[in-house]
Amino acid sequence: MTPAWLGLLVQAGASLVSLSFVWLGWLAVGYCLPVQVGLAVLAAHKLGQPRWWLLIHALFAPAIVLGLWLDLPPWIYLLAFTLAWLLFGRIDRSRVPLYLSNQATLAALEPLLPKGASVLDIGAGTGTVLAALGRRSDLQLTGVEHAWLPWLLGWCRLRLTGRPIAWLRGDMMAVSLQDFDVVYAFLSPAAMPAVWQKARQEMTSGSLLISNTFAVPDVTADRIIEVNDWKGARLHLWRMP
Ligand SMILES: C[S@@+](CC[C@H](N)C(=O)[O-])C[C@H]1O[C@@H](n2cnc3c(N)ncnc32)[C@H](O)[C@@H]1O
Repeated sequence: MTPAWLGLLVQAGASLVSLSFVWLGWLAVGYCLPVQVGLAVLAAHKLGQPRWWLLIHALFAPAIVLGLWLDLPPWIYLLAFTLAWLLFGRIDRSRVPLYLSNQATLAALEPLLPKGASVLDIGAGTGTVLAALGRRSDLQLTGVEHAWLPWLLGWCRLRLTGRPIAWLRGDMMAVSLQDFDVVYAFLSPAAMPAVWQKARQEMTSGSLLISNTFAVPDVTADRIIEVNDWKGARLHLWRMP
């Protein structure tokens, strides 16, 4: 079961318990919300959900109450949903939000790329990595991004570089990795097991998988490079056998 479905079940269970307390007369209606929040967070903790999900559980029911109290017109919700979809794509499936590689990471990444390498950024966001690497005229650069808004921003940005950079829109899992010397990923912990499996199946011997920040569970990296930025980011490198 995905965390999203599990989260909904936890919220529904906590709501049912707190409402039945009210119904049984053990709880005044005014205490229903704090009890619901407490039960949802406790259940999520007991089920071993990641810490950031506990925060979502704490905010979920109060956000519904706030929304009802504000009495906003329904199109606001449709607009927010559409903007979120344009910005993040099917994040319920990918479980990868949009955040960008910083300058320190790009400076650490560039010297790792062999001369003349073909480089693919999977989940390329707004093209930050490829725009920076575009200064190296020897590299052949490709990026794939599934969310429409970042893809469009990246398309405009990369056109301005004047470099022939392949900029694809779609699911990175549908792009074959076999023609690339280096695959760069800055995704999320949830995405890494599938990326690793795909890399092992498709990347050729000697090619390099580089993951910004996120390790592959139970697979030791061949090399780890400290980026020395404010958040202590690391580049994890795996050379394909
Ligand atoms: C953390 S951002 C990194 C952006 C860029 N690589 C960088 O380092 O600045 C991850 C991006 O991957 C995209 N993404 C997630 N899953 C994807 C998938 N299955 N196919 C294509 N893009 C995906 C997200 O929409 C997001 O823009």
